[in-house]
Amino acid sequence: MKNELDLHSLAQKPQFPTRWTILLDELIPQFVKNRFSPNESWKNKPFSQDDVVFFSKGLLELSDFFTEDREKAKLPNYFTTAKFRSSYFLYFFALQGAKFLTLFERYPAAIDAAIAHGKETGTLRIVDVGSGPGTASIAFLIFVLEKLAGPLQKNKAPRKLTLPFKIQLVWIDHNATILKDGQAMLNALFEYFPEFEGSIDLVTDARLWWKHPNGFQFESSIVLFGNVLNESSDDPRIYLSGLLPFLKKIKGAGVLMLEPAFKSASQRLSQIRDELMPHRLWGPCLHEGKCPLAEGRDWCHFSVPAELPGTFFKKFSIKLGSKREWLKFSFIWVAENYEKDKKLILAEQTQPKFVRVVSDPMRTPRGNQNQLCSPNTITWIKTPMRPLYRGDVIPAPSASLFKTGGSRHDSIPQPKFKPRRK
Ligand SMILES: C[S@@+](CC[C@H](N)C(=O)[O-])C[C@H]1O[C@@H](n2cnc3c(N)ncnc32)[C@H](O)[C@@H]1O
Repeated sequence: MKNELDLHSLAQKPQFPTRWTILLDELIPQFVKNRFSPNESWKNKPFSQDDVVFFSKGLLELSDFFTEDREKAKLPNYFTTAKFRSSYFLYFFALQGAKFLTLFERYPAAIDAAIAHGKETGTLRIVDVGSGPGTASIAFLIFVLEKLAGPLQKNKAPRKLTLPFKIQLVWIDHNATILKDGQAMLNALFEYFPEFEGSIDLVTDARLWWKHPNGFQFESSIVLFGNVLNESSDDPRIYLSGLLPFLKKIKGAGVLMLEPAFKSASQRLSQIRDELMPHRLWGPCLHEGKCPLAEGRDWCHFSVPAELPGTFFKKFSIKLGSKREWLKFSFIWVAENYEKDKKLILAEQTQPKFVRVVSDPMRTPRGNQNQLCSPNTITWIKTPMRPLYRGDVIPAPSASLFKTGGSRHDSIPQPKFKPRRK
């Protein structure tokens, strides 16, 4: 049985929906083979090790683009190239989708809020910004369908389920070709899971995400930004005019922005968060003060141990260097403000009972310590017997147990990370 703190922790292994595994193992490999094989005679044969060798060429090149030290100006509009689109489906779809699924599992109240909004308005609307092939929204859709219908059971036909709302996916991406590929895959997905009765439709919007048409307005059960902000200009005017419409009328599960774990992407999210506060957030912050990691040497990111599903995904990760055992990302998840006793509640984190651990155990001159996230500053705590890891949540220590001032992180020479035990 997990205790309450484990449930809030971002250091715990996630479980993935049964339908997600089927999507990765069966539907996507065949879909990619049919759509992207250069040779007609390959198309209807099962996906094999030869295909892994063939498709990993594009994958190796594409994964180079997704590193922090690439020059953004030179980042090509990679989805214009078929070999990059196919490798995205085969590898990055599984990887990025798993990060979203991890957060959906960690924040059940947010998912309930999206479902409640769908029931109330009659439409569960999922807006996916920088959608690519629809990774984040398809992960959300599968998570919700599995929550409503339960996991698939071996050798048992799934029972029919009439959806309690219409479902609408809205995909915004500047690359129209990946939107078309994603749409074709979504159609294949519906044929694969015929147990759901009801209407699911897709609206695609091929444009820069921040360049809204005049009078752009919408109401959504959830807005998902997936790995797109780090590819977008950081001009604050773009942020103001581009982000504000999404943040003005927050409903349902709110706005989840997920980015890579690297420093520039994470600090950009922290800065957006600081602009917004005070505001209710689902996570990761447990206080409403200034983010101590929005600038400087360290940054807020998570490293979740995970057994990632997908037989071919595993083969592709080995081609890229090693089996993937960690999900690394940064995120903020903005919630709807609400009213209580006729007062508008912006944030609930003013007197935090819990604090978030933002480092693994670090060897310091004072012994092993963990960093804790506190308003404006990083504080330190002696690593307890049961070690704490990045993303864990603990009851707020009393002031005497942890230090700010004298043990500020800048004063500690090059701490070494102790590897996490499995
Ligand atoms: C790394 S992919 C992420 C795709 C998907 N959200 C995911 O997490 O797997 C980034 C996506 O953002 C799109 N993109 C980049 N800059 C954009 C912009 N300024 N406006 C709209 N889309 C953009 C790219 O075409 C690409 O589909």
